[in-house]
Amino acid sequence: MSLLVTNLGELVTNDPATGVGPLGLLRDAALVVADARVAWVGAAAAAPAADSRLDAAGRAGLPGFVDSHTHLVFAGDRVAEFTARMAGEPYTGGGISRTVAATRAASDAELRAGVGRLCREALRQGSTTIEIKSGYGLSVADEARCLRIAREYTDETTFLGAHVVPSDMDTGDYVALVCGEMLSAAAPYARWIDVFCEPSRDCHAFDAEAARAILTAGAAAGLAPRIHANQLGPGPGVQLAVELGAASADHCTHLDEADIAALAGSSTVATLLPGADFSTRAPYPPARALLDAGATVALATDCNPGSSYTSSMPFCIALAVRELRLTPAEAVWAATAGGARALRRTDVGHLGVGAHADLVLLDAASHSYLAYRPGVPLVSTVIHRGEVT
Ligand code: NIG
Ligand code: FE
Repeated sequence: MSLLVTNLGELVTNDPATGVGPLGLLRDAALVVADARVAWVGAAAAAPAADSRLDAAGRAGLPGFVDSHTHLVFAGDRVAEFTARMAGEPYTGGGISRTVAATRAASDAELRAGVGRLCREALRQGSTTIEIKSGYGLSVADEARCLRIAREYTDETTFLGAHVVPSDMDTGDYVALVCGEMLSAAAPYARWIDVFCEPSRDCHAFDAEAARAILTAGAAAGLAPRIHANQLGPGPGVQLAVELGAASADHCTHLDEADIAALAGSSTVATLLPGADFSTRAPYPPARALLDAGATVALATDCNPGSSYTSSMPFCIALAVRELRLTPAEAVWAATAGGARALRRTDVGHLGVGAHADLVLLDAASHSYLAYRPGVPLVSTVIHRGEVT
């Protein structure tokens, strides 16, 4: 069965060979889906026939968002911590232990229900590819369990046993556990490995030496590295990400010129998480400097109950435009093609022929409305793997 989506007032293809500029923009466009892939894209007037037809009535279309950084497997919430923070308390990551306790106490069914609810929420807002990390289990059995459940929802799963050192454990012993038994139990369910790397011990995260050991062990087990880097302050995470050839350095809130130059001279994507900076009252990352230096930038939600409880890529786009000073085109690219780069995927994040048929229609005339009308549910139709959801 093929489907013709036609009468698209604007279509972002992210394929410069298909349309104008880095977004590969087409006007009055159409797209044909067959076997869940893009089979044809071009001018509506030249579109071939198909088995069925969806009239976009002049609306704008774009590739489904690629949310390359989330922590969806958890139980409970941290609304009291958020409320205290908005009254002046700082964010230190110390609340992670509360989510760990709630997650360990939850049944598989409860965890599965939570992931399912958030994945549906994200899909309704246009996210058609989603990465999910573990990191709220922090025991051999619970990390493997969280990844096994995450794997039911996505192939893009990340082992984050090195989220924090559990309060009842010695750091050295915990690093050895993460590199050994926990990694062996997690690896069958994970594609990636991640470490929360910060220089300070205050937040119970991992210094460069521990992060290097964990990521090296992960690579030996077949998991490719990515790093929570430079979130709470300046630190070694970005340089380590580049040194190890990590797919992405995530957060990048506190960067110096050497960090920016290192990212720009590497294939490591700078994944910016403005929802976390918003919700922790942190400064925003130097996105303009990253882009102007030539770094590849992705946008993601960081959806988690502590630092960023949003599943909304449109909200992150609006923040990126207003607060990080991306143009709407740069922000939309970062939320689609940029996320695909951060996950080293060539089959999502664009609408070239052969890509997965992941298409979002907006109740708006152009992609700029995602920032122009912040907080408004503009995503009107989501086609995921060729199916209208
Ligand atoms: O990406 N920084 C570490 N991890 C998460 C927050 C986790 C939490 O507060 O529960 C983040 O912001
Ligand atoms: Fe995160």
